Amino acid sequence: MNHITGNMTEDKFTQYREAAHLAGQTRYLPDLELYEGTLRGYAVSSPYAHARLLELDTSASLAIPGVAAVVTASDIPGPNSMAPIIDDEPCLLPVGGVCGYLGHVVCLVAADTLENAKKAASLIQWKWEVLPPVLTLEESMDKKDFLFEPLHLIRGNTREAMEKAPFREKGSLRAGGQEHYYFEPHSAYAVPRHQGGFFIRASTQSPSDNQRFAASLLKLKASDIEVEAGCIGGGFGGKQAQANWAVAWSSLLAWKTNKPVLLILEREQDFRVSGKRHPFKASWEVGFDHLGKILAIDLSVAFDCGWCTDVSYAVLHHSLFHIDGAYFIPNMNVIYYPCKTNKPSSTAFRGFGVPQAFSIIESIITQIAGTLGKDPAAARWQNYYGIKKNNTTPCNMLVENNILRAAHRQILEKSGYNALRKQINVFNKKHVSVKRGLALVPGKFGISFNESFFNQAGALVNIYRDGSVLIHIPGTEMGQGLYDKSRTVVSRELGISIERVRVCDTSTAVIPNTTSTAASTGSDFAGSALKDACDKLKKRLNPVALEIMGLDKGRLEWKNNAIACKEAGKSVSFNQLALNAYMALESLSEKGFYKREGIGFELKTMEGRPYWYYVMGCAVTMVELNLLTGEFKVPDVWILHDCGESIDQGIDLGQIHGAFIQGMGWCTLEKLITDEKGQLLTNSLDNYKIPGIYELPEHFHIDLFQGNPEPRNIHNSRAIGEPPLIYALSVWLALCDARGKILSMPATREELIKPLYNEK
Ligand code: MTE
Ligand code: MOS
Repeated sequence: MNHITGNMTEDKFTQYREAAHLAGQTRYLPDLELYEGTLRGYAVSSPYAHARLLELDTSASLAIPGVAAVVTASDIPGPNSMAPIIDDEPCLLPVGGVCGYLGHVVCLVAADTLENAKKAASLIQWKWEVLPPVLTLEESMDKKDFLFEPLHLIRGNTREAMEKAPFREKGSLRAGGQEHYYFEPHSAYAVPRHQGGFFIRASTQSPSDNQRFAASLLKLKASDIEVEAGCIGGGFGGKQAQANWAVAWSSLLAWKTNKPVLLILEREQDFRVSGKRHPFKASWEVGFDHLGKILAIDLSVAFDCGWCTDVSYAVLHHSLFHIDGAYFIPNMNVIYYPCKTNKPSSTAFRGFGVPQAFSIIESIITQIAGTLGKDPAAARWQNYYGIKKNNTTPCNMLVENNILRAAHRQILEKSGYNALRKQINVFNKKHVSVKRGLALVPGKFGISFNESFFNQAGALVNIYRDGSVLIHIPGTEMGQGLYDKSRTVVSRELGISIERVRVCDTSTAVIPNTTSTAASTGSDFAGSALKDACDKLKKRLNPVALEIMGLDKGRLEWKNNAIACKEAGKSVSFNQLALNAYMALESLSEKGFYKREGIGFELKTMEGRPYWYYVMGCAVTMVELNLLTGEFKVPDVWILHDCGESIDQGIDLGQIHGAFIQGMGWCTLEKLITDEKGQLLTNSLDNYKIPGIYELPEHFHIDLFQGNPEPRNIHNSRAIGEPPLIYALSVWLALCDARGKILSMPATREELIKPLYNEK
């Protein structure tokens, strides 16, 4: 049984939520009705992790009946590049080129059926010079094979502070990657337009990036390409940069054949080809005092970025800006190594490097507490950012609206932490093979893109003459509730019921130059741009409303599907206003724009304001672990999370649950295994375990922190999508608590029993 308790009020918007989506009726790419003559696309991957392509012959494939085209690198009209940040990612591997990983796409096939396309793919003739692959962080570190310059973060004087510190400890931590396992694999449907150019329906978080790359590969202009995304079957970061692929591949095939091409990666192929969360290995030395206050940290972290940069450059920066966790650390010397390996390119995954940073700093604190014989929660308390002092991050950004200690205090009380700790001690003394563990983990997550130009968004609000409203938003709905939050903002702004507001599929033809729906900014950006459009509409329509009421002036209120002038005791319905405005030749359509100015940082010093605001909270988890089998239960999870003034509590609650459970998967279950040839052995749910119903915590006690609105954001809310994933670290740390040592991640059953047997 899964109980949900807490201060959640009845969500008054839930009843309007897209019923079809909840009933499983959302149509993803495989469910689309296709144009007649649509071909199926297939991407042909390298069979080696590291090898030079010497020869490529596609003639046998082309001879298969039903095969319409094979596209190789030499066919690409424009530059053969799809790299979002650093130019190290060709779209297709050219002859003479070296493949980066087992799965690297070499050429593309289009045929009448998927079977024929795959048959043709199996007949591709090629010659390779096989090279030894680099598959571990150690090898990459030894070779100093980095994708870009390592990143440094320096604060204070670490060496001096370390020497003076009363206590010093060394430690290390390893964590694995994570497969996104979105419902809908990577897919795109490219349709040639009779007037030239292409329409592409895609499962993507980044329609504008996809448009840009498709245009550049095909040597077209952005205006020749329209990319549209409906409600996609999950992204979780996996469709931020890497959605470019299916879009590029399907449009290359559609260009070559002049036919519509649907390309959907099969699950096993999606596993093999697409990137994962960044695995890492961290080693540190920490200096601290008898209270557990951190005085200095000297830390180096090697991140497994895979074969190319992708968005690793951004992930590592975002991670580095969170290496302080929730803590004021006066002296830090941190270095991040972007290691290149012959594996799929690690990419964005919910949290974007922040969960990794938190796992490191939280293990450091746990280690300190262990040395001092203190409760780790007490060690955390010593180190939190202060409100009046010790309130700037290593990049010198002020930590505003800081609720860390308040949330900590509240969650101790809510969970009965101290009493629970005593009960657990008694329980653990009594039981030999079953042990309980407890852990508290705070969250602090910066919201915005560190890259300043990404912090912009457009939107369009159309009112029709019957009073119905259609909105176009910059972001993609991927299950995170962006459509409904957007509808809520517009319904509040125009004072109309939410059923009147409909959201259109996201299209680059309507809202241009959008930023990826990422960094948890989707509803911040869409909401703010929509509000701007609504403000402009109201300003334009107010005089029309006054005229209908026969007034010269007056303060107008848009509420309850009407526009009212209280002092005059008059009102006009929204429908009437819409119709009259139309008749009076007033435009009922308005675009909105939003930008966050002043975000950015100095590359050299890492100083600046990388975030608009922080999202904070705290979690406590209790686990019960069977030491003999490694099985564990999670009887209780308490979460206190600050969404400011939540735009939709139902959605925010859902996101907290989802992020927590997804994070639990990374910490405890999901283990990616690659063999010595670089082949990913874990390529389906048969051999890769994601959390299921039986792994869920038995009792979830989730509350929203009250009384800390975010005035810098839409309707005083805070973003929700990624931050709660950090709380899942409390499951891992509670398991470490039960085991009495810090375990690497994922703390799978094997990992949980391994030390027991080794220790003997
Ligand atoms: N929730 C669902 N159901 N599906 C998703 O794919 N992606 C997460 C998060 N929550 C995701 C999700 C990630 S990685 C991000 S960045 C945010 O949603 C993006 O949406 P938002 O910015 O609108 O919150
Ligand atoms: Mo989310 S990892 O920023 O798509």
